[in-house]
Amino acid sequence: MAIFLLDKPLFLHILTQLRNKDTDQIMFRKGMVRLGRLIGYEISNNLDLDIIQVTTPLGANVKGVMIKDLENIMIINVLRAATPLVEGLLKAFPAAKQGVIAASRRESESTSPPKEMEVDITYLKIPKISKEDIVIIADPMIATASTMLKVLNRVTELSPKRIIIASIISSEYGINRIMKKFSFIDIFTVSIDPEINNSGYIIPGLGDAGDRSFG
Ligand code: URA
Repeated sequence: MAIFLLDKPLFLHILTQLRNKDTDQIMFRKGMVRLGRLIGYEISNNLDLDIIQVTTPLGANVKGVMIKDLENIMIINVLRAATPLVEGLLKAFPAAKQGVIAASRRESESTSPPKEMEVDITYLKIPKISKEDIVIIADPMIATASTMLKVLNRVTELSPKRIIIASIISSEYGINRIMKKFSFIDIFTVSIDPEINNSGYIIPGLGDAGDRSFG
């Protein structure tokens, strides 16, 4: 597993706008879409390439680069907070197949922070996954990772070629939990934040990504 920490200035600039409690709903949503597009481009920098030759309208032959697996990308939207992130990812991968997954969380009896969440998958609709597919699971906030672990259980059963997580803020705790169980997965994230509070929010975080995007 590799963790790709996307901490270049433009990522951090948009992240800072998202973290700011005074950023309104429209600007927040726009920021999520922009980060989705940028994360998509970073993922594309990490895909296999084919070197091919093409002929230009001037009859000149020239070597070119094609990204190998663009027809085999599938993006899974972890509803609802990932929706604007997926809108951005689709700008980088316009031919991607799309799936959606909805999960509801309930607090477990555990009292020690971070509180574990019991997660039930309530809706799952994903196209057929083949062994050639690269599956990008989009979830802007990975806190305890309980939802992500459930999603990964489902997706790994279908044995795609590669699984990538696209996230904006991940907690250290969540990343460690994913790493322990799914060591072969790549995580692209803009920030790794240190804490989760007793209500399951990442600290410093950016609040509830779904509420802030959707109002
Ligand atoms: N989901 C959110 O939207 N925010 C958090 O801080 C954690 C999970």
